Amino acid sequence: MNDPEVAREYHRATMHDPSGLRPEDPRLVRGYRPLQWDRKPPQFKTYPGLEGLPLPDDVSHTSGSELGMGLLSRLLFLSAGVVRTADLGGEALFFRAAGSAGNLSPIEVYLVTGDLPELEAGVYHYEPVEHALVRLRPAPSNTPPALVLTGVPWRTAWKYRERGFRHLYWDAGTMLAHTLALAEEAELAVSVELGFVDDHVTALVGADGVHEFALAVVALSGSVALPEPEEVPAGHLADDPLEFPLVTLAQRAGDLAADEDVEGWRRAVRSLSGERASFDDGPSLNRPLDEVIRRRGSCRQFDPGRIAPAEVLGDAMAWATRAVPGDFVADGATLLEHYLTVHAVEGVGPGAYRWRGGELELLRAGEVRDAAGHLCLDQALGASGAYTAFHSARLEDVLGALGSRGYRAAQFEAGIVEGRLHLFAYDRGFGATGLTFYDREVARFFACEAVPMLVTAVGAPLHAPVPGGLPRRPVLLRRT
Ligand SMILES: Cc1cc2nc3c(=O)[nH]c(=O)nc-3n(C[C@H](O)[C@H](O)[C@H](O)COP(=O)(O)O)c2cc1C
Repeated sequence: MNDPEVAREYHRATMHDPSGLRPEDPRLVRGYRPLQWDRKPPQFKTYPGLEGLPLPDDVSHTSGSELGMGLLSRLLFLSAGVVRTADLGGEALFFRAAGSAGNLSPIEVYLVTGDLPELEAGVYHYEPVEHALVRLRPAPSNTPPALVLTGVPWRTAWKYRERGFRHLYWDAGTMLAHTLALAEEAELAVSVELGFVDDHVTALVGADGVHEFALAVVALSGSVALPEPEEVPAGHLADDPLEFPLVTLAQRAGDLAADEDVEGWRRAVRSLSGERASFDDGPSLNRPLDEVIRRRGSCRQFDPGRIAPAEVLGDAMAWATRAVPGDFVADGATLLEHYLTVHAVEGVGPGAYRWRGGELELLRAGEVRDAAGHLCLDQALGASGAYTAFHSARLEDVLGALGSRGYRAAQFEAGIVEGRLHLFAYDRGFGATGLTFYDREVARFFACEAVPMLVTAVGAPLHAPVPGGLPRRPVLLRRT
C-alpha cells in the first residue's frame, strides 16, 4: 500500500517530450485515438429520475459564517457552477467557474452534512447545470458538513489519455482555490483533507473506485466525521467509459486502507520539512470575490506589449502560495517550489527566477520568452504573457516521505496555486491561463531538482473573457 514506486513509474510514463514519442510502459493503452467525438463523455454525472433541490439564486456575499442554503449556494456555484455556455450545433457546451484543462471538468462534488437550516441531513450530489442538490441518502443529524470531491478519469483521459490522472488533481485544485477563498471570506473553518480511507469515501458517494474515485474531503466546520457507507443510487457517468489501467493503478497505489494508515499519513506529513509557504497576512484581493470569479476565464491571447505592474507578480505569488489549510502539508509549509520566466514586469528584468521566501531570486538574466513558449509544449501563451510560473516539487522527497499518495498531494497543491494566481490576476485587471509542459525540459532549463507539476502564465489579456453569468443563467458565448 502507498508504494512510492508506482507514482514514480506513472510520472515517467506520462511525461511530454518534444520528440513526440510516447514513453515505453507496457501498461499504457496502445493505439488509443484521443478526441473521438462520437465517444465524448458527458460533462456531468446525472441521476435520471431523481429530483434536485434548487439552491438559491443569490450568490452575493452573505455576512456571517453560518452555513445555510445561502452560503452553500455561493460556495458551490462560485467553485463548481456553470457560468458560461456555448451552442455546439444544437448541443450545449458548459464552462465552469474554475478553469479545467481542455474544459473537461472531470470533478464531481458531493455534500455530506447533518441538519442545516433549511437542509435535511444527507449525502447530496451537486448538479452544476440546475444548481441543485440531489439527495442520495440520509445521514446522522450531527454529521459535520463536508464536501467530497471525486475524479472521473475517462472524462479527461478521453483527450489526455493517462496524463489525465494528473488533471484530476489539477482541476480539483483550481476549484478548491475558489472554495478556500470563499470560505476564508465567510470565516468558515475549512480544511482540505487528503488523509482518508479511500474505499470508505468512494463507497459513501456511490463511486466505483475505477471510473470515479475520491480525491479529497473538505471539512466545512473544522472536523470530519463521515457516516458509514450504505447503498446509494449509482448515477450515470458515461455510456461506454474506457478504463486506463495505469490511471487506476496510480490512484490505487496511494490508497489508505484503514484508520491507522490515515494516522500514519498525518505523521508522515508532519515529518516532511518542506519549504515554508507565504504568510497569511500579506496582500489581499481588492474586489468582491463573486465579481472576480465571474470575470475569470482563461486568456486565449496575451498582449505581449503590456508591462505588468510589480504587484501582479510579487503580490500575486505571495497570495497564491500561502499555506493551504489541510492535512497534506505541515502547518505553514508547502510541497512546492516555484520557478518563473519573467518577460514584462515593471522593475524586474527579463530572465529566469526562483520565487523563494516571498522574494525573487535571479537565476539567469536575459530574454526568455522563446524558451518559455517552448517549455510550455510550444504554446505561444507560455511566451506572450508578463511571466510564466512553473509550480514544481522535489518529487523524490515527497514520494520518499508520503508514498504514492504524496503524488496526489503535490499535483493538488499545484492546482490550488494555479487557481489562486488566476483570481489575483483578474482582481488586478490582468489575466492568466493554466498550461501543460515538457517535463524534463523545464527542470533542465531551471537547472533544479524540482520537477514541474503545473504551469500558470499571467499577463494582460488581448481580449478580456466575457464575464460569466449567474445560477441557471449562464452567459451564452458567441462563437467567432
Ligand atoms: C490545469 C490546467 C491546464 C491547462 N492547460 C492548458 C494548455 O496547455 N493550453 C491551453 O491553451 N489552455 C490550457 N488550460 C486552459 C483551459 O483550456 C481552460 O481552463 C478551459 O478551456 C476552460 O475555460 P475557462 O478557463 O475560460 O473557463 C488549462 C487549464 C487548467 C486548469
